[in-house]
Formats: sequence, C-alpha cells, structure tokens
Amino acid sequence: MSDRLVGPEVEENEIISDESLRPVDFTEYIGQKRIVENIQIMVQSARMRKQAMDHALLSGPPGLGKTSLAMIIAKALGSELHVISGPAIEKKGDLAAILTNLEPRDVLFIDEIHRMHVSVEEILYSAMEDYRLDIVIGQGPSARTMQIDVAPFTLIGATTRSGLLSNPLRDRFMAHLHFDFYNPQDLGTIIENSSKKLHTNLDQNAVSMMSGCSRGTPRIANRVLRRVRDYSLVKEEAEVSLNSVKKSLELMDIDHCGLDRMDRKILSVIEDYYGGGPVGIEALCATLSEDRTTIEDVYEPFLLKEGFILRTPRGRVISDKARDHINK
Ligand SMILES: Nc1ncnc2c1ncn2[C@@H]1O[C@H](COP(=O)(O)OP(=O)(O)O)[C@@H](O)[C@H]1O
Ligand SMILES: [Mg+2]
Repeated sequence: MSDRLVGPEVEENEIISDESLRPVDFTEYIGQKRIVENIQIMVQSARMRKQAMDHALLSGPPGLGKTSLAMIIAKALGSELHVISGPAIEKKGDLAAILTNLEPRDVLFIDEIHRMHVSVEEILYSAMEDYRLDIVIGQGPSARTMQIDVAPFTLIGATTRSGLLSNPLRDRFMAHLHFDFYNPQDLGTIIENSSKKLHTNLDQNAVSMMSGCSRGTPRIANRVLRRVRDYSLVKEEAEVSLNSVKKSLELMDIDHCGLDRMDRKILSVIEDYYGGGPVGIEALCATLSEDRTTIEDVYEPFLLKEGFILRTPRGRVISDKARDHINK
C-alpha cells in the first residue's frame, strides 16, 4: 500500500471499494452545480432529439468525480458506456476497432485523454466531427484513403490537464467543463452519505473535521472516512468520537489543513533549499526526487488554491501562510 494517503492517485484495491461509494445518479452526485446543470441540459436535449449527446471534456484534479459523472451521464442517456484509458491505446488500429464497434448513441469515455499518442489521437478528429474514420492504406504514390462510417456516438474525455490537450482535439469538444475543489459543505454531505452506506454513525463535529482535512476532494474524504470507521470500530465505539477522527488523521499523517507529509515536504524544501523561492518546477522536482506530473497534477493545485504557494514568472514561491504553517 502506498504510504501517501492524501495522494489522490487510485490504488487497485480502492477501485473496487470506490464502487460502493460511487454516486449512481444525479441525485447522489453532490456539488459541482454548474457542471451538473450543463450536463443535465445536454442529456435531456439528446434524449429529446433522439441523437447522440455532444462531446464533452471534463477537466480537473484527480478524485473530483469525472469518472463518476461519465457513468451517470451514460446511465441517464440510457446508453452503453465504453471506458478506455488514453495512454493504453497504442495503435491507431486499436482505437479504430473500438470506434467501429460502437452502437448509435453509445458513450465512449477516454480517461487521461491528454496522454494519448498523437498518431492515435488523429483518428478521433474525423470520428468526432463527421462520425467517419479516414484510414490511409499503403504508402507513397499508391496510398489511398478509405472512409469507414462510425455510429453517431458521444465522446467524454477526462483530463487532469486540459492545457496539455492539442488544439484540434480540444476544439472538437462542444462542452468544456472544469471541476473545482469541493467546498466543506458539499464534502460534509458526501461524507454523511458515505457514512450511511458504510453503516457508521457520525456526529456533526466529526463530519466537519473530516471535510476540513480532505483537501476539497471526495475521493480523499471517502478514504479518510474509511480509516476513521476502522479506528472507531476497533475502539468499539457506538458513534465515532472526535478523538477517533483526530487519531486516525494522525495515523494518516494528515494535518488540520489536510496537508500530508509530501505537501509539507514541498513547502519546507522551497523554504529551506530555495529561501522561500522563486524556484523552477524542474529544480523543485529534482530536489524532491519526484515526478513532475505528480507534483503539477496531484499536489500543486490544492497548495495553489489554498494560497500555500504562489506561481510567479520566475517560479514557485511559498506564502506567509505556508511559512506559519510549517513553522508551527
Ligand atoms: N459529486 C460527488 N458526489 C459524491 N461522491 C463523489 C462525487 N465525486 C466523486 N465522488 C467520490 O469520489 C470517488 C472518486 O471519484 P471519481 O469519479 O473516480 O474521480 P475522478 O475520475 O475525477 O478521479 C468516487 O468513487 C466517489 O466515491
Ligand atoms: Mg477517474
């Protein structure tokens, strides 16, 4: 098991347990009001037209509900959902096979779409725009283009970094929906709903403490809840006590702002090695011995949002708030 409990990356055994807490319809899908409103209109319109829904791009940090929303959309459309991961498609032919096997109005969900190989991605352009594949057969003067029809389908792309998508691909999505971190109220509701599914009794103080430490991310809120449930169960409590929440967070090495060991390490490295910054992302990642994508996609968005670090043209700088926090 990974020692990073805050990291929103998914663990294999969690995918299974995630399922039981995954919202199954719009009523269970909490927060992200603007996105949900947009999507509900698109779904309803598609149903009235009896045509495929427009292609939609869902972007935002991991664990905020992109995959869950795609599943809910397909269900609401009464369509079949096909799930693939962008980087896992190696050849054009693989994607062509998937596309030509779609039934009318099916939903194709491509996760991490920004990590798809460029050559594979090109297949999508005409498929998205004209429901047609342009396949080049042969090479040189004898090469010819063959066209294959694709059933009218809906592409839902999910990405942690919409900025990394190529322009031709981005332009073909009719709706661009960006996910923000959840506010404490919405996270509280998610924790309450999940606690019912897990048959765990929580009081309001326990809920507030957990939602305050879950860095605005439902996946983390559910992860924290499961650990708290375990702790409380072992202590044979009828209702989760505040002390159990505190102890569980301590065991998970999460502080009262929801920062974990890695978050605090990022802040102290900037402070101790780079005099508080500015420091370039490359240098920072080298000092942390951490992959750039992980820092940029998983850790930075929350630290930026909460004002612990600031981005300047010359690099990352830590704020007074961060300094107070690490010196406490
Ligand atoms: N809006 C939401 N309401 C309730 N639970 C949610 C919501 N969004 C996410 N979750 C919970 O968080 C987990 C992770 O969400 P997921 O859709 O897999 O995120 P992403 O695909 O953006 O990484 C889900 O299994 C679900 O338990
Ligand atoms: Mg996902």
